[in-house]
Amino acid sequence: MKPSIYVAKKVPGEVAEYLEAHCEVRYWNGNEAITKEQLIEEIGDAEGVLLSGTPVTSEVIAAAPRLRVISNNAVGYNNLRLEPIIARGILATHTPHVLDETVADLAFALILAAGRRVTELHAWVREGRWKKGQEEELYGLDIHHATLGIIGMGRIGEAIARRARFGFEMNVQYYNRNRKPDVEEKLGVTYVGLDELLATSDYVLLMLPLTPETRGMIGAREFGLMKQTAVFVNVARGPIVDESALYDALAQRTIYAAGLDVYAQEPIDPAHPLLTLPNVVTLPHIGSATSATRMEMASLAARNLVHALQGKSDIALIPELRNV
Ligand code: NAP
Ligand code: GLV
Repeated sequence: MKPSIYVAKKVPGEVAEYLEAHCEVRYWNGNEAITKEQLIEEIGDAEGVLLSGTPVTSEVIAAAPRLRVISNNAVGYNNLRLEPIIARGILATHTPHVLDETVADLAFALILAAGRRVTELHAWVREGRWKKGQEEELYGLDIHHATLGIIGMGRIGEAIARRARFGFEMNVQYYNRNRKPDVEEKLGVTYVGLDELLATSDYVLLMLPLTPETRGMIGAREFGLMKQTAVFVNVARGPIVDESALYDALAQRTIYAAGLDVYAQEPIDPAHPLLTLPNVVTLPHIGSATSATRMEMASLAARNLVHALQGKSDIALIPELRNV
């Protein structure tokens, strides 16, 4: 008998066909992303669930007595509450590697746009504010040969460092929980402490997972250490940053600009103070959003789910479950 699964996010047609070939499938049909409460109502007797970012709490686990596998269609899995998952012996998987290059491209889009004021000056042209004779008012910051500080030298951090070193000839330094001598040698990057990175980088880029340790890691003290000409870029997760401290640093121009793909609350409230600032480039959490990469992610998430239900070991388990 095929295992029953619940697919709580939209998946491409060929991914649905693959799932249906191996499982009895029920789908979320809402137009908006499923909420935790809706998932609790819907999950029923599913043995597997495929979702993306929906909170999986103790209540969700309790509502799914037959659940054996959670396939998260994202690399970040801060939406999963680990204690009840581990306690029930449920397998949880994610989608590492397949999105690294796409997210690294997006990180560079933010570095370039914030440093060279691309969105701000785009608005100038459209608003008729471009006048002959303007000079310094249009100046931005160089990216080439500047110092990039990457906080979180994991898979995506490394892809960003490669672009920075070999594309833009930047000086790259990084801070990470564990030092990475192989990456240092391969890419010519330097390990520094967090405070040194903050104080000496022209571009500070956050590429950490959201965990209890990283939540709120970048706040007023950290923005206070940055150069007045520093550009801050967050492609990781919003709650790692204290947004009101970021707003103060940008509004008071104690840092130069920010490029943001992620926020404490998503979608961000259009009335959020950060969105009033000209020196903020904002995107709607699109790090991995190209059709090719989203197809790869959905395919990997589907394969993880089916293979885990079949007891196969070639699945991308989240790291916390690898030694359980
Ligand atoms: P990864 O390979 O696991 O890299 C994360 C790095 O952060 C690892 O090198 C890890 O160090 C380090 N780290 C973890 N906790 C730390 C701490 N407390 N202090 C210092 N360093 C710490 O993950 P990834 O694939 O690069 O993805 C990183 C994150 O990016 C994801 O978790 C997700 O939240 C976010 N993301 C966002 C988007 C987007 O659309 N904006 C897309 C993809 C990913 P160790 O080597 O010691 O483990
Ligand atoms: C996107 O944010 C991801 O974690 O894959």
